Amino acid sequence: MSNLEKTLSIIKPDAVERNLENEIKGMFTNNGFNIVKNKKIQISKSEAEQFYKVHETKPFYNDLCNYLSSGPIVVMILEKENAIQENRDLMGSTKPEDAAEGTIRKKYGISIDKNSVHGSDSLENAKIEINFFFKD
Ligand code: CMP
Repeated sequence: MSNLEKTLSIIKPDAVERNLENEIKGMFTNNGFNIVKNKKIQISKSEAEQFYKVHETKPFYNDLCNYLSSGPIVVMILEKENAIQENRDLMGSTKPEDAAEGTIRKKYGISIDKNSVHGSDSLENAKIEINFFFKD
């Protein structure tokens, strides 16, 4: 049965800064994702706080929000069969050193904070996160 899903992906500041935007987009398209929409933006700290609200009680929340707002990011809507899980598999583990060979975070991630990409973790959050960046 077909299960075409949309998920939100972010190319984080560390990757944009290293000019990895096109290489990372290529990894998505080579793995069957359609980039439905994308834009390069810089968000404010308060926008980052809203975006990562699910993590507000975590000890790393403040650093995380400072980091995501520290430079340009590329936000994308990705579409594929089972896009949410497929994207998580392609990104690899949150910690680049634990990520499997061939994943984006293994290839490009620097640290748990500078792990190059974000991806929605559930269908519900994908809808919320897509709506956060692409309201129209
Ligand atoms: P991301 O998928 O964008 O979701 C939240 C981010 O918090 C995560 O990637 C990491 O970059 C960052 N982070 C920093 N410290 C931790 C931690 N201890 N556990 C999980 N995520 C962390």
